[in-house]
Amino acid sequence: MFEQLAALQKEALARIAACIDTEALQELKVAYLGKKGSITQISRSMGALDAAERPRLGQAVNTAKDKLEAALAEALRRIKEAELAQKLARERDDISLPGAAFALGRGHILSQVTRQIEDIFLGMGYTVAEGPEVELDYYNFEAMNIPPEHPARDMQDSFYFSNSMLLRTHTSPVQAHVMEAMRPAIPVKIICPGRVYRRDDDATHSPMFHQVEGLYIDNRVTLADLKGTLLAFAQRMFGPERQIRLRPSYFPFTEPSAEVDISCFVCGGAGCRLCKGSGWIEILGSGMVHPNVLRISGYDPDQVSGFAFGMGVERIAMLKYGINDMRLLFDNDMRFLAQF
Ligand code: DAH
Repeated sequence: MFEQLAALQKEALARIAACIDTEALQELKVAYLGKKGSITQISRSMGALDAAERPRLGQAVNTAKDKLEAALAEALRRIKEAELAQKLARERDDISLPGAAFALGRGHILSQVTRQIEDIFLGMGYTVAEGPEVELDYYNFEAMNIPPEHPARDMQDSFYFSNSMLLRTHTSPVQAHVMEAMRPAIPVKIICPGRVYRRDDDATHSPMFHQVEGLYIDNRVTLADLKGTLLAFAQRMFGPERQIRLRPSYFPFTEPSAEVDISCFVCGGAGCRLCKGSGWIEILGSGMVHPNVLRISGYDPDQVSGFAFGMGVERIAMLKYGINDMRLLFDNDMRFLAQF
């Protein structure tokens, strides 16, 4: 029996030392020291021994039990430590460190400027309208009072799909879509932001760029309304000190037509590099809606009048933020874009 006990103890210690998980360790404990465990059994069978031998065996069993208990406790500590080390290796983050800042995205500079322009006109009672980028020749040119063979078509070198379909060269055709949809209701008071396309590509021209068109039709809309509206826009966009000036110009869809300049916001009008010494910076084209344009899309020029304007979003953005190359706007370089 003593030999059996010694053998069991040896076996148990070896298995405990080799054990690597807590469940298996618990099973070993039950197998040797549990109620029906093999070492417990030995003390149960003590009756078969001489009375003189019994205390010796009892002591031996107790010693064996103590050894196993100690070995179990040591093994548990070792296993727990290994588990923790493994867990730490898996989760390398130190959760006591301050969290990493989550980089929030932002709107592209052109989206931001478009939104600013929209906000200014929404504040003056305009609503936003949109039209197709793939446009019929009819809307892009004819409804804008630019008949076939008209020389003004040459000002906007175009991408054609067919004789009658092209990528719109300006947002002006949205005027005709909106008038067709609303006629004869007044007022028509809309701005139309969107992409336009022309065969142009250099530091200040991109084959795709953005415009915002404006159209206001009502009873007795005058040039004074146009001027007041654009002055309010210029002051909100470029600062309350801005003045505007209208220079006579030509667009087929307006009569009279005007290019609109703002007083230079760098030098205040004294003359500097940005305004090329003139004190004025051109920002958009505008005019009183041509009677033909009203008539073609279902409004009676004897009953109503209107003004229209169109501006380039890239140009406004470049002026406002001092950007000198339009291509920067489309390179998608985060070092550039993150500045705005
Ligand atoms: N459509 C013109 C262009 O792309 C801009 C423009 C000028 C729009 C005068 C207008 C306007 O509505 O009245 O060059």
